[in-house]
Amino acid sequence: MTLISRDKAILWHPFTQAQTEVDPVAIVRGEGAYLYDENGKSYLDLVSSWWVNLHGHGNEVIAKRIYTQAQTLEHVMFAGFTHDPAISLCEQLKTVLPTPMQRFFFSDNGSTAVEAALKMAYQFWCNQGQTQRFRFMSFEGGYHGDTFGAMAVGKSSGFHTLFQRFFFDVTAVPYPATWENDAEVEAKEKFSLLKLEQYLVFHGDEIAAFIIEPLMQGASGMRMVRPVFLQQVIDRVRSYGILIIFDEVMTGFCRTGTYFAMEQVDRCPDILCLSKGLTGGFLPLALTVTTAAIYEAFLSTDSNKAFLHGHSYTANPLGCAAACASFELLQQKQTQDQIKSIESVHRAGVATLCNLLPNRIKSPRVLGTIAAFELPTVEEVVTLKRSALAAGLLIRPLGKTVYILPPYCISSEALTESYKIIEKLLINY
Ligand SMILES: Cc1ncc(COP(=O)(O)O)c(C=O)c1O
Repeated sequence: MTLISRDKAILWHPFTQAQTEVDPVAIVRGEGAYLYDENGKSYLDLVSSWWVNLHGHGNEVIAKRIYTQAQTLEHVMFAGFTHDPAISLCEQLKTVLPTPMQRFFFSDNGSTAVEAALKMAYQFWCNQGQTQRFRFMSFEGGYHGDTFGAMAVGKSSGFHTLFQRFFFDVTAVPYPATWENDAEVEAKEKFSLLKLEQYLVFHGDEIAAFIIEPLMQGASGMRMVRPVFLQQVIDRVRSYGILIIFDEVMTGFCRTGTYFAMEQVDRCPDILCLSKGLTGGFLPLALTVTTAAIYEAFLSTDSNKAFLHGHSYTANPLGCAAACASFELLQQKQTQDQIKSIESVHRAGVATLCNLLPNRIKSPRVLGTIAAFELPTVEEVVTLKRSALAAGLLIRPLGKTVYILPPYCISSEALTESYKIIEKLLINY
């Protein structure tokens, strides 16, 4: 029996309509930016395996660190116990985070980082007797994960419509979704700010927190906004005492060119969610980072004022060791140079596509290691995805949005060649 037939007999895949979807590709190994199937065919991973992989598949430094850690201490529960990998990781991350980011709470994935952030924000207010702050705000199209709280704040993403009746009170503000050379940028931003203000006037003192994917919404189609717009939103929201949560699950760890997108926004949140690139794509791990003020609001002789939240694998030492190794690699000059050259190749590749197909490539945009554009129809996008896979390129478009978000170890030659292949596939469509 092949891997595919064994898979089809027993497995249920995420985000997949099994009845109509083509068979999955059985991957047997990965090396650098490439994945290999059971027949030895290679696929250049242009989406970093759902945006998690930073330094390539099978990276030896991270693999060895996990192995060494596994021989020393694979896990211990994190209530009442602690360990060096968790402490070291947070100490290291603190060096690149803004000063107010002082306290680190571990969980397992992006969704749980968001759940912890939402609960933390609500309880922060409750612990101070402000139980009227029970509403949340987010941006239209924001995606924050698939657990119930994360779905509630991502209710307008289109992914969770069936579950609406279970959601707590969330208001989604219109999202401008602008790009360089967008002629309507000012009008879109103005509309959004107007709607924001109208809502705040009536409900500003009932809102616990506003959750934002800074600079770029991922799952809703790599949709960007200008830093100056976010600054106005954040300053406005803060004037009502509302907490700001940055969901940097996708944008963190240099995806947008800086360690965190918030550096370009020039605003520090009250709560920060990190996952995906945290371990370089090796193990599931997440962090919800917050300020001393929020942490201190949970200190009391009353145990009910503690943050009574946790997971069996909280701060798993293997994940922490992988994250330490990944972060060290990320700081190396070579990695930082590669991140810059990915951006240059993206800009050249997207510009060429626009010149060659001016009527078909819409809303081109590049931010750090992420490039995206729209095609006129979903059919074109689906065809491109299938033909790219046959040509050895792994892309996973979102609706009409095609995006490229490679591991940082990809060579400029391989990325340039990918653009040439995509050009040819689009021209021959
Ligand atoms: C911005 C953002 N937040 C949260 C999540 C949820 O992360 P996870 O899939 O690890 O639960 C995602 C996943 O794509 C994301 O892009």
